[in-house]
Amino acid sequence: MRAAVVTAPDASPVCADFPEPAVPPGSEPLHLVGAGLHNVVRGLATGRHYGRGRMRYPLVPGIDAVARTGDGRLVYTGYARPPFGTMAERLVAPFQAEIPAGADPLAIAAGMNPGLSGWMVLTTRRREVGALGTVLVLGATGMSGTLAVQGALALGAERVIAAGRDPEALERLRGAGATTVSLAQDGPGGLEQALADAVSETSPGLVLDYLWGPVAEATFAALGRSGEDTEANTSYVQIGSLAGVEASLPADLLRSRRIRITGSGAGSVSAEEMLAEAPEVMARFADGSLHLPYTAFPLSRVGEAWAHTGRSRVVVVPD
Ligand SMILES: NC(=O)c1ccc[n+]([C@@H]2O[C@H](COP(=O)([O-])OP(=O)(O)OC[C@H]3O[C@@H](n4cnc5c(N)ncnc54)[C@H](OP(=O)(O)O)[C@@H]3O)[C@@H](O)[C@H]2O)c1
Repeated sequence: MRAAVVTAPDASPVCADFPEPAVPPGSEPLHLVGAGLHNVVRGLATGRHYGRGRMRYPLVPGIDAVARTGDGRLVYTGYARPPFGTMAERLVAPFQAEIPAGADPLAIAAGMNPGLSGWMVLTTRRREVGALGTVLVLGATGMSGTLAVQGALALGAERVIAAGRDPEALERLRGAGATTVSLAQDGPGGLEQALADAVSETSPGLVLDYLWGPVAEATFAALGRSGEDTEANTSYVQIGSLAGVEASLPADLLRSRRIRITGSGAGSVSAEEMLAEAPEVMARFADGSLHLPYTAFPLSRVGEAWAHTGRSRVVVVPD
């Protein structure tokens, strides 16, 4: 079968022949409609992601996709066993969730991984405390962060603070109803001041962090500036690390308020938990309350797809 094939950690994928995945008894191969090129897909294929342990080369990249069953149904699927990723004409994967009627299959392929990352954290928090209150999204201008802002607004958050650098993306988030903070500040002092101003009105009950590194450190300092706060009950969730993989955490922040710092990702969230939220997230893409720009590339141009830097999520489709 034709597939995107990565031959080494530092190699870009090429479109080539690849063996068919073994089909377990009683099931059938699925036919690719579209597979999203998410950051985790690059991270696994290049050996940078913490889940890289199982990667053997050559491999087919791709962790999830929208595919067609033998009887023509469109399903969201994924968690294919390496080296048989989802960027191939045919795939075998352990779960199938029917996509809602009327949903754009390529929008689902582009949006489920980034969409689920925020949605799961938001719905977990809502189940824990009832209402979302004030939500702070760090890295709100990226695909996952933007969907987290849309999700927080759709789930009735009182106030959504969207923090990022790109001015046009921040403008769009303001248009959607968020309060914005520019992270394009000179030096840590500027970053901390901008964040402190944003959280001075109401301390966030929930922080979704797609950046970590110096941005997390500035946020910890901003949260800590209001001194002891017995009212605060903050859940800080680490989801991505595009600004840095490490961040120092001030001890007094943990003692001066009720703040819980956790992570959300492969290993800290089970596939079952993630998939339980999939139908609702797909329904939100179908009704437009979640939406993101995507760019489709055929398998034969997968090298170009891999090099794409525009502000949209790449989806690889069959030729
Ligand atoms: N744990 C999970 O389940 C999960 C799921 C999805 C994504 N993630 C992770 O979350 C992160 C974001 O993913 P994404 O899909 O949103 O990626 P994306 O669409 O590529 O967006 C990344 C955004 O991060 C911002 N950024 C990059 N470097 C930055 C820096 N040094 N300082 C401030 N902002 C910076 C950029 O915003 P500006 O252009 O505005 O600066 C960019 O738009 C990645 O690390 C990804 O692996 C985790």
